[in-house]
Amino acid sequence: DRSLKIAPSILSADFAAMGAECEAIEAQGADWVHVDVMDGHFVPNLTFGPAMCAALRPHIHTVMDVHLMIAPVDPFIEAFAKAGADIISVHPEAGPHTHRTLQTIRGLGKKAGLALNPGTPLDVIEYLLDLTDLVCIMTVNPGFGGQKFIHSQIEKVRRLKRMIGDRPIHIEIDGGVTPETAPLVVDAGANVLVAGSAVFGGGSVGQPEVYGRNIRAI
Ligand code: DX5
Ligand code: ZN
Repeated sequence: DRSLKIAPSILSADFAAMGAECEAIEAQGADWVHVDVMDGHFVPNLTFGPAMCAALRPHIHTVMDVHLMIAPVDPFIEAFAKAGADIISVHPEAGPHTHRTLQTIRGLGKKAGLALNPGTPLDVIEYLLDLTDLVCIMTVNPGFGGQKFIHSQIEKVRRLKRMIGDRPIHIEIDGGVTPETAPLVVDAGANVLVAGSAVFGGGSVGQPEVYGRNIRAI
């Protein structure tokens, strides 16, 4: 299903009310819930791990899209699968054996995703496409919400679209997605939009007017 999907990132949600935040954004029409896992090593920030995913699972009735910004990633794949992740995305920059990591994710019955940092060329995924269900193009340097969209990535999205051809692979955009930047990446071929600060604003429960204005307007 290649229809446009909105995947709010709970990195910008109220950490003291995460379950309620997930329920709120789903009630307001979120298609997926994007869970940003950070280890303070692969990225200069630290968020939460498998236990948070397990705690949120009962509050997420749609796709739990887990973005692992951790290195090494292999020791944690099984834990996130068991915690209830539906999609597990890993960074090829996080280690030398991404091909095997994707095999492991698929072997656990989960969808496998690749997330590429802004400086990472598309070549790295050339021999990984048969094992991939989603490619996430980072349009900010990972680690934080509320950053400025990196426009150089739009051409990369266009090229990725051509590279994928008719394979059933989602093109997800992550970082700095707003009503202004969203149309640019949708036009380039993206079909899943992650948005944190555009949805949650200052980190309180996703206000309908904020959520409705910023995202549903796309
Ligand atoms: C950044 C995360 C993104 C981030 C998006 O490392 O991967 O998902 O939460 O936040 P905004 O939409 O505020 O740029
Ligand atoms: Zn993310």
